[in-house]
Amino acid sequence: MTIAHDAAELLRRHRESLFPSVGLFYDEPIELRRGERQYVYDGAGKQYLDFFGGIATVSSGHAIPEINEPVKEQLDRITHTSTLFLIRSQIELAERLRAMTPPALNKVFFTNSGTEANEAAFLITTLNRNSNELIALRHSYHGRSFAAINASGQTPWRSSTLSPLHVHYVGNPYCYRCPWEKTYPSCGLLCARDVEAVIRTTTSGQPAAFVAEPIQGVGGFIAPPPEYFVMVKEILDRHGIPFISDEVQTAWGRTGAADWGFQAYHVEPDVVVFAKGMANGIPIGGVIATDELASAIRSLSLSTFGGNPVATTAALANLNYIATHNLRENARRVGDYLIARLWELAERHPVIGDVRGMGLMVAVELVRDRETKDPAADALLRVQEEAKRRGLIIGRGGLHANVIRICPPLIVRERDVDDAIRILDESFAAIVND
Ligand SMILES: Cc1ncc(COP(=O)(O)O)c(C=O)c1O
Repeated sequence: MTIAHDAAELLRRHRESLFPSVGLFYDEPIELRRGERQYVYDGAGKQYLDFFGGIATVSSGHAIPEINEPVKEQLDRITHTSTLFLIRSQIELAERLRAMTPPALNKVFFTNSGTEANEAAFLITTLNRNSNELIALRHSYHGRSFAAINASGQTPWRSSTLSPLHVHYVGNPYCYRCPWEKTYPSCGLLCARDVEAVIRTTTSGQPAAFVAEPIQGVGGFIAPPPEYFVMVKEILDRHGIPFISDEVQTAWGRTGAADWGFQAYHVEPDVVVFAKGMANGIPIGGVIATDELASAIRSLSLSTFGGNPVATTAALANLNYIATHNLRENARRVGDYLIARLWELAERHPVIGDVRGMGLMVAVELVRDRETKDPAADALLRVQEEAKRRGLIIGRGGLHANVIRICPPLIVRERDVDDAIRILDESFAAIVND
């Protein structure tokens, strides 16, 4: 396939001017110039079914008029004021978040990204508990800053270990690759019980918080067993340790089961961290926390862009769109259909070792051999290329970069899944026949 001259030139300029760490998908990276609902179009006008949604961020679809119109009106009225002035849409959004979360969570701080939101969560819990100790999960990802990168349990992402935090890692509730080589449910959830052991053996006894993604995102959509968070929360409560739920990927109905990932696991966190899909692609993030934790910051603290009128207007419009179009229920129904169809694919393609997920957060883990579960990162790269050629965008993730991540806009229908399955079927066949 010949690359369009323009994309090749853009790639050269990208490499010349951006940090080398800003990676790109594909041997011949593409520019997505335009989007419409679940489709995106490259510089040559080629259409792709978008089953990655800008990393689980385009929650309601591309160029949705009901979301974009209020944003355009807000841009024309006023773009920025700073948080030193009253911002109507920021206040409305904070009120809405309070209504969507448990009653104890009633103070909101807005940021521009998930990383910053986790930083805010780490700041309030470490101040409140007078401790820099954090408990995190292996295979987790919480962002790219000094603190957040060190709360992340994946070496490929740990660009630095010069952390202000002292992090204790617990074993991951990753049933496909159980760290104890046990099988659920006869395992007795050793993974949850590990939290108790880590608190008792490796901490000062006074850690600031436990942080976890209800379903790990970058880690490869690893969904813990249903009882995991209930068991962990019971342990945390006994030790008086706050639970930070990093909902950067799992919020806004993505899991199909509820608005938030923690609801799917029937627990109530003390701090909820959000970003990504909140405003359908406009940068926004934040935390909602208990009064006590929110009051831990006694000095001055400000985010210039946090709660910005344009971003908060976009978030309100997006949350309205998700609610009025019942996208959460759509995610549940279409997600179940997607998982069933992927298991059908697994019958034909032995490279598929596992299919898992919840709602429209679905993973396909590729292995060289189903017995040894040896990760097949090379196969994933080839499938991704083949899918692109046939007009389908999928993501990748996992510690071994061998997990296909599927997280389309929540508007996709069964017929989109059928299209994606047909393309994936052909793509898996093509890498075998290569
Ligand atoms: C669970 C989770 N937390 C935090 C982050 C960091 O968010 P951002 O990239 O917006 O800083 C990510 C990004 O992928 C994430 O998946």
